[in-house]
Amino acid sequence: MLNPEFSEARQQALLQAARQAQLAAYAPYSRYPVGAAVLDEQGRTHAGCNVENAAYPEGLCAEAAALAAMVLAGGRRALAVQVVGNGGQDSSGWTTPCGGCRQKLREFGGPDLAILTANQDSIGPRYTLAQLLPESFGPDHLSSGSCR
Ligand code: THU
Repeated sequence: MLNPEFSEARQQALLQAARQAQLAAYAPYSRYPVGAAVLDEQGRTHAGCNVENAAYPEGLCAEAAALAAMVLAGGRRALAVQVVGNGGQDSSGWTTPCGGCRQKLREFGGPDLAILTANQDSIGPRYTLAQLLPESFGPDHLSSGSCR
């Protein structure tokens, strides 16, 4: 199935998967667990959580883990990503993908890729990838501009 409808049921499935994933996060250093879930071009949901490391820079973000799960399952296009962190409302700001993860999402998503925020209790704002990563560099640049 190509371009599955981003139905209410799929949004709920994404949210549930990302909230479950947050509960599985390994974040003993930052104590900032994050869950993410990606909707692929076949309508499937792939979840991931952050996995930190004693060698701090080796830690993995939840969005990167979710994208890796999607690729492993054969998914090649991300239509939406739900991120669940502890921000929002009375805490600090809603958790949005870090700069590196925005670029990782760019590899598999177009400018209209939906980026949805939430915590365990509430839904936060919704963005597009173009809003969070404007004028981005992606695979299309390499196919049109490489030396021959
Ligand atoms: N983190 C994510 O997994 N995704 C985000 O969108 C923001 C930050 C992780 C990285 C690190 O394990 C912890 O949250 C604190 O930065």
